[in-house]
Amino acid sequence: MEFAERIKKLPPYLFAQIEKIILEKKKQGVDLISLSIGDPDQPPPKFVVQTLKMEVANPKNHNYSFSQGEPEFRVAVAEWYKKRFGVSLDPEKEVIALIGSKEGLANIVRAFINSGDKVLVPEPAYPVYAYGGTILTDGIPIMMPLLEENGFKPNLEFLASQKEAKMLFLNYPNNPTTAVVDKAFLKEVVDIAKENNMIVCYDNAYSEICFDGYKAPSILEVKNAMDVAVEFHSCSKTFCMTGDRIGFAVGNKEIIKGLVEVKSQIDSGPPKYIQQAAVKALGSYKPDGEPPTYVKRLNKTYVERRDVLVKGLRSLGFKCEKPKATFYVWVNVEEDSLKFTMKLLEVGVVATPGIGFGEHGKNYVRFSLTRPKEEIEEACERMKKIF
Ligand SMILES: Cc1ncc(COP(=O)(O)O)c(C=O)c1O
Repeated sequence: MEFAERIKKLPPYLFAQIEKIILEKKKQGVDLISLSIGDPDQPPPKFVVQTLKMEVANPKNHNYSFSQGEPEFRVAVAEWYKKRFGVSLDPEKEVIALIGSKEGLANIVRAFINSGDKVLVPEPAYPVYAYGGTILTDGIPIMMPLLEENGFKPNLEFLASQKEAKMLFLNYPNNPTTAVVDKAFLKEVVDIAKENNMIVCYDNAYSEICFDGYKAPSILEVKNAMDVAVEFHSCSKTFCMTGDRIGFAVGNKEIIKGLVEVKSQIDSGPPKYIQQAAVKALGSYKPDGEPPTYVKRLNKTYVERRDVLVKGLRSLGFKCEKPKATFYVWVNVEEDSLKFTMKLLEVGVVATPGIGFGEHGKNYVRFSLTRPKEEIEEACERMKKIF
């Protein structure tokens, strides 16, 4: 069977290869501590699970949902935006439900990119922007290196010079680099996008996983952003609901309309009971935008784990900053990241080689804070055997 040319253009999926090696190690009886994937170990909030149980028992919730999502869900998203970011949205035209934000990040490209069109993509990055989105739409990803010396932000002069690019992906708080940005930076991006007539797809999946007083902005808080931008969010990280597949996109009416057009030809909305659970989750934010106790506790857990890991890595001689957001630690290991993670595997520690996120990640390794503190302590002990 011959795959389509666009499939042949996809790089080998490094993470699948690593999974194979991990399985092999497990078979050999190696006890592994996995600090690799971005899937929280914590359960979702109890009140969300309660809602889910109740809603799943309602037969009416097993019919198709609208491709744009249920009106009640869209209203909840708009209310959450108002509380959390002070941004007003029209739930009818400026909000769409997603079956997880990944799906939307891939489908948005289909709505606006023709074969051969250019899409600006950060690198290293979450792979869906370049591959699931751009390459599978026959677009051409133009990589924007995220360098440590620039705070892992793209070079804005380069960005401005890419006048042919139709679309731009950005993600802050950033996976994998953990970098954050302020509104002044986002304003510059919006100004360039307006000037160059470019759609900005802003991935804000980690907006609620912030520490030490940092509060992630929405790009839509910036003047004129509504003219050019769409923002992607998810309940996956905020409420530990990765398997429930519920996310949303909000922003410019025309961009949302494009996404609705694509999605209505491909799928229906997320299950109604999942949307109801998400309504409950988003509704738990206080009227002034303060997160509920659940989210605060979650972030406290990540901070404790982060501090243990950063201390451990520093004691081994690695220079590493304490991230202000996301549940990762991104470390410059000053050697080939794949070789480094293979060494870690020998002592039963699994981390993600930065090369899996792009060429400029080749000397970095990403550790996830999605395991208990005790396991992270044990991982640091184990790493002492090699460094
Ligand atoms: C930067 C980023 N965006 C989006 C997602 C997708 O999240 P979901 O599809 O679960 O909403 C992830 C998941 O790891 C991510 O790291």
